[in-house]
Amino acid sequence: MSDTRALTNLALQAVHAAEMAAVAASGWIGRGEKEMADQAAVDALRSGLNAMPMKGRIVIGEGERDEAPMLYIGEKVGTGEGPEIDIALDPLEGTSLTAKGQPNALAVVSFALRGGLLHAPDTYMDKIAVGPGLPAGVIDLDAKPDENVRNLAKAKGVNASDITVCILERERHQYIVDAVKSAGARVRMIPDGDVAGAMGAAGLGTNVDMYIGQGGAPEGVLAASALRCIGGQMQARLFFRNDDERTRAARVGVTDLDRKYDLSELAASHCLFVATGVTDGDLVEGVRKTGGRIHTHTLLLDSADHSVRRIRSERPAG
Ligand code: FBP
Repeated sequence: MSDTRALTNLALQAVHAAEMAAVAASGWIGRGEKEMADQAAVDALRSGLNAMPMKGRIVIGEGERDEAPMLYIGEKVGTGEGPEIDIALDPLEGTSLTAKGQPNALAVVSFALRGGLLHAPDTYMDKIAVGPGLPAGVIDLDAKPDENVRNLAKAKGVNASDITVCILERERHQYIVDAVKSAGARVRMIPDGDVAGAMGAAGLGTNVDMYIGQGGAPEGVLAASALRCIGGQMQARLFFRNDDERTRAARVGVTDLDRKYDLSELAASHCLFVATGVTDGDLVEGVRKTGGRIHTHTLLLDSADHSVRRIRSERPAG
């Protein structure tokens, strides 16, 4: 069996693992306890991943930045038999969204053959992303946001006023908001959840034209893996707040700390992307309990054939 086929064959168990994480986190929706929600998702995801026939290794994940319970970078998961798989994950993308009962919280995991996903610490990352069908090089992380808006509008053959840019609502992004507005474009501010934000730029979920901003590095790699599956362009650069983060980066083999990564380096080879809704959102519906059964909704993307699957599952609750 080819390695590509071996990875694709893991898809159903990957979906099951994400479903379990989402169900576990859903018990904490609207209860104001974001760390408990995260812990529940981590524990359920770990046990789902450990049931998968693979030699899995987490190459980028949550934990250190949040001081939350981790599925830590370097952790080995899986049964220890089967293909060597690298994993990027965010067991609960949107811990605050969950705690506040707001939309767009997800359990997200991406799987690639060994070496296929950027191995980096849980720092921040500057990111810019657009969807498929545009000329190569239409975005540049180092260009000003208004310049990126103008270039994108030109490439799409529309006015800047027809362009919408998704931006995470943070003080540090005010200069992006100002620049986008000065170019005549619109902004769509999101409180959290920039994996879905970047995917919106590629036409999945909310339809925006571009995502710009600084968020978590794991979320950046997860978004890149989704874009590898559905098409699009992305550039990113790790952002370190202190020497400890720089040292951690060096420890996992990041030699050029200022490197501008392209989509093909963030997600370098065949990958699967799986996201299950915790709360209702733009990409998928959240977990529901009705008639003694628990319902989940999952998005499964496979870069091998660029397929997009939406999977509804139900099982007895409890
Ligand atoms: P978590 O819920 O996993 O912590 O992430 C939510 C999130 O909004 C991400 O989507 C985003 O990348 C990151 O936090 C931004 O970090 P910060 O909230 O520190 O600005």
